[in-house]
Amino acid sequence: RKRCIRISTGSKQLDVALNGGFQTMSVNEVYGEFRCGKTQMAHTMAVICQLPREMGGAEGKVAWIDTEGTFRPERIAEIAERFGVDGQQAQDNIMVARAYNSEIQCEMLETLAQNFATNQYRLLIIDSLISLFKTDYVGRGELQERQSTISLFMRRAAQMADEFNLVVFITNQVMSDPGASALFAGVDGRKPAGGHAVAHASTTRLLLRKGRGEERVAKIIDSPDCPEREATYIITTGGIND
Ligand code: GTP
Ligand code: MG
Repeated sequence: RKRCIRISTGSKQLDVALNGGFQTMSVNEVYGEFRCGKTQMAHTMAVICQLPREMGGAEGKVAWIDTEGTFRPERIAEIAERFGVDGQQAQDNIMVARAYNSEIQCEMLETLAQNFATNQYRLLIIDSLISLFKTDYVGRGELQERQSTISLFMRRAAQMADEFNLVVFITNQVMSDPGASALFAGVDGRKPAGGHAVAHASTTRLLLRKGRGEERVAKIIDSPDCPEREATYIITTGGIND
C-alpha cells in the first residue's frame, strides 16, 4: 500500500504551516502576482524532492511541464549546492518538458504516465497551469470549452497524484479581468485564475504575495488538514528559505 509523503518547501515556517510540507497524492496550487516566487518555489521543490526523507525529501525524481520557458537548470545547480548535492545529478533527475500549446500540455500528462509507472517519481510540476489556455482560447465564445478542457486536465492530474503517489505542484496566476472575477469565489480580492475548473481539483491552495523588502507571505487558503494561516519566506540563491 502506498504511503503519503510530505516534501519540504525550503522554508521551515511554511513547512510548519503545511504540517510538514506538500503531500503526495494531492494537488497543490500556489497562486499570486508576478515575482512572488511561484517559479522559484518550484525550483526549490524540484531539488528537495530528491533528498532523503530526513532532509524533507521524498527520494524521488521530478517531472516538470514548463509552459512559459522559465525553467533554469543553473538555478537547480545553485539550490543543489545549498543542500550539498551534486548540481548535475540534481538536473538529471528532473525531466523537463516544454509545452508550446495547451493541446501538447494535455497530451504530456499521458506521456508522463509511462514515466510515473516506474515508481521513481514523486513530484509533478506544472508552471504555469493556465497561460497556454489563455492564448489558445480567446474571447467569450471559447470560455466554456476552455474551462472544460482545464477541468479535464486537472482531474487527470489529480488522478495521477493518487495513482503514482505524487505531489502535483501547480502554479497559477491571479485573475486579471475584474468583471469575470465576479463569477468565481476568491479571497482577499486576489482570485486564482481558472475558476471552478481549478478550484475543485486543488487539494491545497496557497496565496503568495510580496511583503516588506525581500519578504514574501504565503497564506493557506484551502486545505483539508491545515487551518487558514500565514507564513513568511524569502527567495535566496539557494531557493526558498526562512
Ligand atoms: P510570474 O511567473 O511572473 O508570475 O512570477 P513568479 O511568481 O513565478 O516569480 P518567480 O518565482 O520567478 O520569482 C521572481 C523573484 O525571484 C524575483 O524577485 C527575483 O529577484 C527572485 N530570484 C530569482 N532568482 C533569484 C536568485 O538567484 N537569487 C535570489 N536571491 N533571488 C532570485
Ligand atoms: Mg513564474
